[in-house]
Amino acid sequence: MRLDKFLCDALGITRKEATKLLKSGEVTVDGVASKSGALKLTEANQVAWQERPLSQVGPRYIMLNKPAGFVCSHEDGFNHTAFVLLDEPKMQDLHFAGRLDVDTTGLVLITDDGQWSHRITSPKHKCDKTYRVWLADSIGDDYAEQLTQGIQLRNERELTLPAHMEVVDASNNELLLTIHEGKYHQVKRMFAALGNKVEQLHRERVGAIVLDEALEPGDYRYLTADEIASVW
Ligand code: URA
Repeated sequence: MRLDKFLCDALGITRKEATKLLKSGEVTVDGVASKSGALKLTEANQVAWQERPLSQVGPRYIMLNKPAGFVCSHEDGFNHTAFVLLDEPKMQDLHFAGRLDVDTTGLVLITDDGQWSHRITSPKHKCDKTYRVWLADSIGDDYAEQLTQGIQLRNERELTLPAHMEVVDASNNELLLTIHEGKYHQVKRMFAALGNKVEQLHRERVGAIVLDEALEPGDYRYLTADEIASVW
């Protein structure tokens, strides 16, 4: 395939825009800046734009360490969408594989693969999610038992599925909670039903995918092949 056609497909741009991009010198083929759109690529060629390998533009699987103040949806008039934290081509193809509230921080998965995200979000697959929770009031002695038995949330017919709680620091009202479903505001509503209040919420894990500690709030990285495969 010609280099300019490859850029159009990979970045979702027009032939004219591809020509401009090539002129800028930001496109490299096997590490060497290339300005010729007519260049014929072979499968072995590595094309990069601004040092980002374009072979990665296809199915993309991203983990973001979401800071507070960003929504996992389109702009809502008050808050920025977490998409503004990504510097990616073809942004319109990406979607959130599960959401966090605006004030919740931590692991958010983003992809353009609908089947993959369905495995994470569909209630049928009961994908585990682990949250670090800080409560306003002390952790009740009966919480672990009640969370295992299932909690009756307001406006829900069924009890929540058994959840696992582990106290991290009782003096700080800090615990880890693993749930297997993703109802609206679920963790906050579970503790509200227990008569407490979530002060701070941070997601650390989705299925086998653990938030990379090297990611500062607002940073993201591509998932590894093992992380991607763990969802299927
Ligand atoms: N449960 C909540 O209450 N909020 C979140 O953001 C995620 C889970």
